[in-house]
Amino acid sequence: RTVAPNAVAAVSEARQWDRLMKLAQLGAITGADGSPGVNRQALTPLDRTARRLVVGWAEAIGLTASVDMLGNLFLRHEGTEPGAAPVLSGSHMDSQPAGGRFDGIWGVIAALEAVQALREAGIATKRPIEVVAWTNEEGSRFAPGCMGSMAFAGHSAPDTWDAVTDGEGMTFGAELRALLDSEADLPRRGLGVVDGPKPHAYVEAHIEQGPILEDEGIDIGVVTGIQGSRWFLVELTGESAHAGTSPVSTRRDAVQDMVRAINALNALMEDPTDVLRFTVARIEVAPNSSNSVAETVRFTIDFRHPDAAVLTARGDAIEATVKAAVKNCGVAVTERFHALPVAFAPEVTGAIERAAAAQGLSAERMPSGAFHDAQFMVPLCPSGMIFVPSRRGISHNPAEYSSPEQLAKGARVLAQVLAELANS
Ligand code: GLV
Ligand code: MN
Ligand code: MN
Ligand code: MN
Repeated sequence: RTVAPNAVAAVSEARQWDRLMKLAQLGAITGADGSPGVNRQALTPLDRTARRLVVGWAEAIGLTASVDMLGNLFLRHEGTEPGAAPVLSGSHMDSQPAGGRFDGIWGVIAALEAVQALREAGIATKRPIEVVAWTNEEGSRFAPGCMGSMAFAGHSAPDTWDAVTDGEGMTFGAELRALLDSEADLPRRGLGVVDGPKPHAYVEAHIEQGPILEDEGIDIGVVTGIQGSRWFLVELTGESAHAGTSPVSTRRDAVQDMVRAINALNALMEDPTDVLRFTVARIEVAPNSSNSVAETVRFTIDFRHPDAAVLTARGDAIEATVKAAVKNCGVAVTERFHALPVAFAPEVTGAIERAAAAQGLSAERMPSGAFHDAQFMVPLCPSGMIFVPSRRGISHNPAEYSSPEQLAKGARVLAQVLAELANS
């Protein structure tokens, strides 16, 4: 089996950490407990600055940058065989509004580190390796997440989200155009499988975002698949009224109907096995005044399950459940994201296990509860993910932390996996 010991040795723990800490300065925030977090949401000026920094590092080592119409950024290490399908490796550079320094960005920097190590070790690969940063994985500024990877994969048309607005009323389409204008000096490429060859394989490095690896003292998570996710937006329209004068019996109170809807959904989503994930976490009320009855409420639903049958049956029941529960308001339920559960390819999980074993690292197979861009690569090519431990399992929080050493172990495994896949 291909072992690339020189490339593994050339992975630099210090260089990788230094890059992550430089990027963490772009959007630096402080969490409630004093932790240094990041708020660098998709298509913001900070996101643009971060991309420039990464492009600069990549070009300095001889990689070629290009951008597609969704703003997906590719940093290409050339292969020796002309026309060979590339191996892709990366993740996302956008963060949650109260995010950490590693979610997403480490997968991009780890892939860059792995490719740089291969090049420094003088290891040529038959296939090109492309480091990729997918646009808007988080979906916190513009919902849903994974827009860049969904468009690349042909899962959704590239103009699907043009009219989606953020909290300030900016549209995704306009902000994407502004990003592309600011990167007009970078070569433009066709969008994924629409214009180009399918990748040979896709490997994404990511922090676990859960407690298992740390609890069990394991170095590397070999991700076997990702549970399914569905996102919905519920919009309730009632009528505003004076809180002191309008009789409760005649109100069309959108908050009261929201409470009815959420109670009914909680009953629908009951799960004694505790496997199902059901979350309502974003609520917008208007006029949002304590002495005015709420006229409108918009709330989000994030529903996840590893079993496609459960995801379909309960997800499909959401709209009727909400409509039956609501008493006095108009109601609209819109599905905004639908990602089926996926299983990763044995070619990739096997390569990760071999690399970890060859490097003397402990590894454990595990599913992912979070969604990732890798989910959308599964129909295109053998795909997989490498997890490293997250301190106390905390993520989507400034307290998110993985140590320089843990991240270096992950990058070393990735370097060996990329060397193997790019020569196969
Ligand atoms: C991705 O950030 C997710 O919510 O799983
Ligand atoms: Mn992520
Ligand atoms: Mn995330
Ligand atoms: Mn994510």
